[in-house]
Amino acid sequence: MSAKDLDNAPTVVTRAPDAPAPAPAPAPAPAAPAAKKVVDGIEVPGPTDPVTIRIRGLVKKFGPQTVLDAMDLDLYRGKINFVIGASGTGKSVLIRHVIGLLKPDAGHIFVDGEDVVPMGDYELSKLRRKFGMVFQYSALFDSMSVLDNVCFPLREHTKKPDKEIRGIAHDRLTELGIVGADHKYPSEISGGMRKRVALARALVLEPKILLYDEPTTGLDPIATQNVDEMIADTARRTGGTSVVISHDMASTFRIGDVVSMLYQGKVIVHGSPDEIRSSQDKRLREFVETSGAVTFNPERPARA
Ligand SMILES: Nc1ncnc2c1ncn2[C@@H]1O[C@H](COP(=O)(O)OP(=O)(O)OP(=O)(O)O)[C@@H](O)[C@H]1O
Ligand SMILES: [Mg+2]
Repeated sequence: MSAKDLDNAPTVVTRAPDAPAPAPAPAPAPAAPAAKKVVDGIEVPGPTDPVTIRIRGLVKKFGPQTVLDAMDLDLYRGKINFVIGASGTGKSVLIRHVIGLLKPDAGHIFVDGEDVVPMGDYELSKLRRKFGMVFQYSALFDSMSVLDNVCFPLREHTKKPDKEIRGIAHDRLTELGIVGADHKYPSEISGGMRKRVALARALVLEPKILLYDEPTTGLDPIATQNVDEMIADTARRTGGTSVVISHDMASTFRIGDVVSMLYQGKVIVHGSPDEIRSSQDKRLREFVETSGAVTFNPERPARA
């Protein structure tokens, strides 16, 4: 038998019938914890770590204007993460980078351990399956009925029969309190209903991460509270990560778990709603106080 044959021969271990059984193999040593992935000196959180999205050194310029200026931000798994800041501070620009609709000039965005920044179209379309996005101004298709708007992602991304798709879309709408409007068009329903239809559409593929861009802007206080409750219920029901872009401090304090404030292209304050309430940062206090969230002032005397 040549050496080559030996290499290919199956390994057969024979043992005499009366020979003692071999001692059991020693238990393998406990596996060392997997080494953390590090990219450019950044520890990359994996798909089960507490951080779902880690943003580091994100820079975005439009001509001479620097909108994101080496921004760092962590967004936490299973939490409702609020990103607040004045109009024009780059909140929508930031969220567009997270789903790869914009490419930065520099920096990293890790989602479940994968860097979004270098991804091409194919990888991005796979990545986007993780996300549900409720755009600022709802962004429903005006020429489609409410039901067809919600069916749209299922028709695009699944091969389910149309009857089943319509059933799922109808159920999602009903869960969100949109009843009897399946065949109406977006222009025939109220702004608050449009937000809920947009949410139903974002939820229909059961995403792990939900991004909301100013979900309550332009709504009255009752509709705002309804949308807040819907976001909180959805977070509880799905256990997913929610990212809410907002300048509504009442909503932030009502349902936020973690709050980050953008200012001049950076996150300047990051913490729990209580930490935000008691922060002495002048820029934050000015923003919160002018937003009319009267619960902010920590010195405010308790009412008798
Ligand atoms: N595609 C673009 N080309 C050039 N400038 C842009 C583009 N998109 C955004 N900007 C600029 O970037 C800045 C941030 O815009 P962005 O829409 O992110 O603000 P925002 O914080 O979401 O504000 P708002 O609260 O009003 O929605 C603005 O000055 C805007 O004009
Ligand atoms: Mg915006």
